[in-house]
Amino acid sequence: MDLQIWIQEMKDQGVSPKRALFNIKVRKGSVSSEAFALVQKIFQLSETELKLLLGWFPQLKDKPIAKHQLLICKSCQKGDESLINKISTLLDTPINSISSDGLISLELTGCMGLCALGPNAVLDQQIYNSINTNTVFRNKLKQILEEREK
Ligand code: FES
Repeated sequence: MDLQIWIQEMKDQGVSPKRALFNIKVRKGSVSSEAFALVQKIFQLSETELKLLLGWFPQLKDKPIAKHQLLICKSCQKGDESLINKISTLLDTPINSISSDGLISLELTGCMGLCALGPNAVLDQQIYNSINTNTVFRNKLKQILEEREK
């Protein structure tokens, strides 16, 4: 679907500009400067207004820089970052960075709006809930790590 039409549809459905940027990040893996400008135009916000509106701001990248992208809601951790640190160690990937081999990026976000199901993460555009106990999420991470061994 055309990016402009999709953003307009989100606006028409009452989606907030913040949620629109998050949806773009989930679906595309990044928020390009073109997408940011379209959100700005369609929601009739200045760049400053849009940035002020955001509690968190997705890193603007024209394209994904790692093969896999993992976003973890920092707010779900309620100040305890042990799970995030464990995942960072497991993936050998610094927080808010990409692994040295470009296999995966690990970024922290603010609330994804799914708090009751947290802790939440988005891995390769797929949302995972309760990632501290979610075996599907754990197995997906294992599959990604196996790519490293090939
Ligand atoms: S606090 Fe993590 S989804 Fe809301």
